[in-house]
Amino acid sequence: MSPFVLLTILCLGVARDTQSSDPSLDSEWQEWKIKYDKNYSLEEEGQRRAVWEENMKVVKQHNIEYDQGKNNFTMEVNAFGDMTGEEFRKMMIDIPVLRFRKKKSIQSHTGGYLPKFVDWRRRGYVTSVKNQGRCNSCWAFSVASAIEGQMFRKTGRLVSLSAQNLVDCSRPEGNRGCISGHTFYTFKYVWNNGGLEAESTYPYEGREGHCRYLPERSAARIKGFSIISSTEEALMNAVATIGPISVGIDASHESFTFYSGGIYYEPKCRNKTVNHAVLLVGYGYEGKESDGRKYWLIKNSHGEEWGMNGYMKLARGWNNHCGIATYAFYPRV
Ligand SMILES: *[C@@H]1O[C@H](CO)[C@@H](O)[C@H](O)[C@H]1NC(C)=O
Ligand SMILES: *[C@@H]1O[C@H](CO)[C@@H](O)[C@H](O)[C@H]1NC(C)=O
Ligand SMILES: *[C@@H]1O[C@H](CO)[C@@H](O)[C@H](O)[C@H]1NC(C)=O
Repeated sequence: MSPFVLLTILCLGVARDTQSSDPSLDSEWQEWKIKYDKNYSLEEEGQRRAVWEENMKVVKQHNIEYDQGKNNFTMEVNAFGDMTGEEFRKMMIDIPVLRFRKKKSIQSHTGGYLPKFVDWRRRGYVTSVKNQGRCNSCWAFSVASAIEGQMFRKTGRLVSLSAQNLVDCSRPEGNRGCISGHTFYTFKYVWNNGGLEAESTYPYEGREGHCRYLPERSAARIKGFSIISSTEEALMNAVATIGPISVGIDASHESFTFYSGGIYYEPKCRNKTVNHAVLLVGYGYEGKESDGRKYWLIKNSHGEEWGMNGYMKLARGWNNHCGIATYAFYPRV
């Protein structure tokens, strides 16, 4: 046996000894594993428990501060509770924001009346919350759901469209399956391809496969798509008048991972680069309008157990918080 191998084994041995867990959390750990259907090998259990306990500490501390009125949102140790921040960020890649000629983007209308509350779910524009799983396919769900809304507006029928179709078939446009994707390339794919299948004919698998799109099964097509100029005013105008909008945000912080309710505000959030695509379905405010608790309402693709039944309220009117207005598109159907 070489000295190197011996050393490695020793290090592992030491590492395992230091992973003593807090017995007072035993029952919470068991309940969490059952709730989220986790099943580890013996070697893995200790490591995952240690990560979970770290996350538990962060979340509990945050919620104490929430109770003290120091922030406006709560957190919980959800299905991602056994992942380190590093592991979670690996699922996200900064999306280089493409530059567009200004005349192509939609300017905000000035002086027009906009409602104080918008929620397209109430008007039937929004399908059920999906779960992308461990596949980095947020861009596919964001684009599919934006098209679902505009198809509903046009036809009066709400149909879940196939994110798997997008994952499997948009590689030639520049996407990379479960590794990463770009909402711009994805709209371009649907436009060039002449259609997109429904979730029912091309169900989600959460891994990249061969492209199996069939034109005769196409359930939606688009005539083009537009980018919205990067201000919250333009975004508000668009979501109020057009319908749900595909947006990008900076979601690379653990406060996002473990968000459970309230108005999300993360001081570390950036507004120039985005790394996660979601669907903007409306906006509003809590309390009195003058309180300043204004929010954007977004639909995520991490399942219904994440956030507020799969949704998040994100701070509105805070310098384009987390880049909500930086990379916004809608399809023309
Ligand atoms: C966990 O996985 C092992 C092996 O994969 C299996 O034998 C066992 O039944 C599983 N336990 C639960 C609770 O799912
Ligand atoms: C948080 O709540 C306080 C108190 O209502 C409010 O003044 C503040 O603007 C809120 N912050 C955000 C980011 O919504
Ligand atoms: C980003 O935020 C900074 C301050 O936090 C602000 O000055 C800037 O205008 C924002 N950028 C955009 C594009 O809104």
